[in-house]
Amino acid sequence: MNETPTRVYAEIDLDAVRANVRALRARAPRSALMAVVKSNAYGHGAVPCARAAQEAGAAWLGTATPEEALELRAAGIQGRIMCWLWTPGGPWREAIETDIDVSVSGMWALDEVRAAARAAGRTARIQLKADTGLGRNGCQPADWAELVGAAVAAQAEGTVQVTGVWSHFACADEPGHPSIRLQLDAFRDMLAYAEKEGVDPEVRHIANSPATLTLPETHFDLVRTGLAVYGVSPSPELGTPAQLGLRPAMTLRASLALVKTVPAGHGVSYGHHYVTESETHLALVPAGYADGIPRNASGRGPVLVAGKIRRAAGRIAMDQFVVDLGEDLAEAGDEAVILGDAERGEPTAEDWAQAAHTIAYEIVTRIGGRVPRVYLGG
Ligand SMILES: Cc1ncc(COP(=O)(O)O)c(C=O)c1O
Repeated sequence: MNETPTRVYAEIDLDAVRANVRALRARAPRSALMAVVKSNAYGHGAVPCARAAQEAGAAWLGTATPEEALELRAAGIQGRIMCWLWTPGGPWREAIETDIDVSVSGMWALDEVRAAARAAGRTARIQLKADTGLGRNGCQPADWAELVGAAVAAQAEGTVQVTGVWSHFACADEPGHPSIRLQLDAFRDMLAYAEKEGVDPEVRHIANSPATLTLPETHFDLVRTGLAVYGVSPSPELGTPAQLGLRPAMTLRASLALVKTVPAGHGVSYGHHYVTESETHLALVPAGYADGIPRNASGRGPVLVAGKIRRAAGRIAMDQFVVDLGEDLAEAGDEAVILGDAERGEPTAEDWAQAAHTIAYEIVTRIGGRVPRVYLGG
């Protein structure tokens, strides 16, 4: 049986994941590295990417939800795992019993984790998250003393061990943004306070991919890299993947479903936003917004067909879109590369982000569950 899917598939190069982890470790040589594998490893497949990252020396894995962390454990993945997006009633006990480090941003979470630790008869590993300016999750400076005090008390009673103090940047992808310095100062202050009160964290961390790549003073004990692990640039301002020493891990390939000749003046796709100027060859790419191809990139999204980069002609539909080959020829079954590596002349996640007025994070992460993943370098 031919195991390569025929319609559309995402080829994931695990050697690229390994190479990227090594490149990132070289950027932060005195820090451990956490590979962030939330949201199915940004669309690349959590379990294979987590394993590849560990093979390349990632000491930690990070997820947003506890369910994502538990899925890694269920797949037999060992080593340190941390997850940070909790809601009341979350699976604290399961996380504690499977040795997952859990993030605590407020008193409700500390209360729940203490109760779960007592019920499990275990010590929970917790990491206190400081809101140093992102204004999202994390404990505000004004509430920090209460949280730190309660965590130190819980540590004394044996229900928790504070393994980390951490935070997250708002604008690390905008070099020179004044909030970076302010957040670093706030982080150092909140960390110093916690340490003065008796917290002795194993890891202090704030750096995401852009900070890891551009701000060595943010590396502390651990860097939490997500997007860069998959070889995608966090922002055009920081450079291309190749300029950053990274290799895109995902190549999204499709087989043309149809190529046909149409006359001049022929409308293409819903709304007829594209009309052929002359007799031409249209090729049908069998992937659409149900597969994660952003409809917002209609008329602009790039795809490599018959040796050239073409633009989506007209609307991107749920399952398919069209490219105009002009005088060039192709046939059903020929390959279309929707995104991949610019070094191979392919369109990139960054190109699609520009075409869809979004960020490359969203482009790879949204590649849908209907798209099979095929792993290379396993
Ligand atoms: C808390 C936290 N840390 C680290 C990351 C990794 O960020 P990046 O993908 O920019 O490396 C994320 C992702 O958004 C995150 O939410």
